[in-house]
Amino acid sequence: MSPSFLKLFAATSLVAASLTGAAPLDQLQERSAKNQTQPKNKVILDNDWGVAGFIPYLMALDAGWEVLGLVSDTANSWAEQCGLHALATLEVGNLSCIPVHKGADYPLLNTPELFQTWEMVHGKLAWEGAFAPENLTNEALGNDPTSGDPGRVSKAALYEGYPNTTYASKDAAWFMIQQVRKYPGQVSIYSAGALTNIALAIRMDPDFAKNAKELVIMGGYIDGNLLQVTGSIMQADWNSDINLMIDPEGTKIALTAPFPNITIAGNVANQVSVTQEYLDDIYKVKNPYSSLMHKYYGTIFPLWDETAAAIMLDPTIIKNTTSFYLDVDTAPSSPTYGNIHAYQEALKPVAQNLQKVNMVVSVDGNRLKKWVKRAVQYPKTCADL
Ligand SMILES: *[C@@H]1O[C@H](CO)[C@@H](O)[C@H](O)[C@H]1NC(C)=O
Ligand SMILES: *[C@@H]1O[C@H](CO)[C@@H](O)[C@H](O)[C@H]1NC(C)=O
Ligand SMILES: *[C@@H]1O[C@H](CO)[C@@H](O)[C@H](O)[C@H]1NC(C)=O
Ligand SMILES: *[C@@H]1O[C@H](CO)[C@@H](O)[C@H](O)[C@H]1NC(C)=O
Ligand SMILES: *[C@@H]1O[C@H](CO)[C@@H](O)[C@H](O)[C@H]1NC(C)=O
Ligand SMILES: *[C@@H]1O[C@H](CO)[C@@H](O)[C@H](O)[C@H]1NC(C)=O
Repeated sequence: MSPSFLKLFAATSLVAASLTGAAPLDQLQERSAKNQTQPKNKVILDNDWGVAGFIPYLMALDAGWEVLGLVSDTANSWAEQCGLHALATLEVGNLSCIPVHKGADYPLLNTPELFQTWEMVHGKLAWEGAFAPENLTNEALGNDPTSGDPGRVSKAALYEGYPNTTYASKDAAWFMIQQVRKYPGQVSIYSAGALTNIALAIRMDPDFAKNAKELVIMGGYIDGNLLQVTGSIMQADWNSDINLMIDPEGTKIALTAPFPNITIAGNVANQVSVTQEYLDDIYKVKNPYSSLMHKYYGTIFPLWDETAAAIMLDPTIIKNTTSFYLDVDTAPSSPTYGNIHAYQEALKPVAQNLQKVNMVVSVDGNRLKKWVKRAVQYPKTCADL
């Protein structure tokens, strides 16, 4: 635990203690019988899981949160393949007590064909995720499936091993609805891939968003166009928003729903980069996760999903934040189809009910790196939970 996390914990204990003082006697007795155990923060992590994508759940466990389950979505690859990565990476660390629920194969409207047609009109994305053209040779060489049949699996891309465990269900949206009904006001929804499953849950249960605790997403880049043209293709990749653009309509439903709190980690997710020295340092402690990270995380991408996870798990890591009313461009004729648009209070649209969201501008990068290192070097297992 970092000192500031301890501080946060102490602060929440104080609040709880003062609440306890006001509680009726029978509740007091019940609490002391349960040895004053604080209810753990609860989270469902929805992601396009990959071979080195396990760090967000290791961070949540490190922070003492209860991970109710992992959900897979279609963004970097299809939801089936991403869910198998989730099962397999849990298994290598003895974390299979955490259930995995497979999400929807397709975005609400988008398909590889529509996406590729959009690209012909508006230009290519540097990273096309699941909608890159199908290439079976590439898959056989160890890449996750793109386009074609969403149900197919590339075993060669499951470098961490093929899972011996199976999905708890293939109804991710329903799983999320059930958990939010069971723990109203307590469940954080974390999304670091496309927002399809969350949109489905919102449409299936009109109370889902308002009864969740919050929505925290990786994505929601803003004002990145200049950066897309004044650097390398990789710089354009860093400043595009595949998570949102895979499913523009699902993104709009999710980011305009009445969650009590919505936080986006877009531009800030590029703040902390990963160097070979950092990977080598983490690998000084050997375990299945430090090995996978050392071998497959790479030094090209910043701590994207990890930044969003840290913001949710310990907001004291935030150094600067701003807020605005957020809309999502859902016009397929637009070059910013699937990107966000920000409004200030005085000028926001009146014909639609947009939500005011927090956009994190910067975080304490050193704390983030230390946290990721600790979570990977000393991962919790089911025996600790
Ligand atoms: C109560 O909590 C304390 C401190 O965490 C622990 O040492 C003790 O064993 C717990 N007692 C029971 C009955 O669980
Ligand atoms: C599943 O079991 C097989 C056989 O023991 C093993 O080779 C493989 O690595 C296991 N999968 C995972 C993800 O641990
Ligand atoms: C998982 O559990 C097995 C059996 O208890 C043990 O041999 C192995 O070291 C554990 N692996 C991890 C990463 O904790
Ligand atoms: C498919 O992938 C292979 C292996 O990566 C590559 O050599 C080939 O150029 C790709 N084909 C197309 C049409 O991009
Ligand atoms: C909303 O979430 C952000 C980020 O986790 C946090 O900083 C903020 O305090 C939260 N706001 C409320 C009202 O809970
Ligand atoms: C915080 O972010 C806002 C918006 O980008 C910026 O105007 C302001 O200067 C930042 N403040 C600090 C202390 O970095």
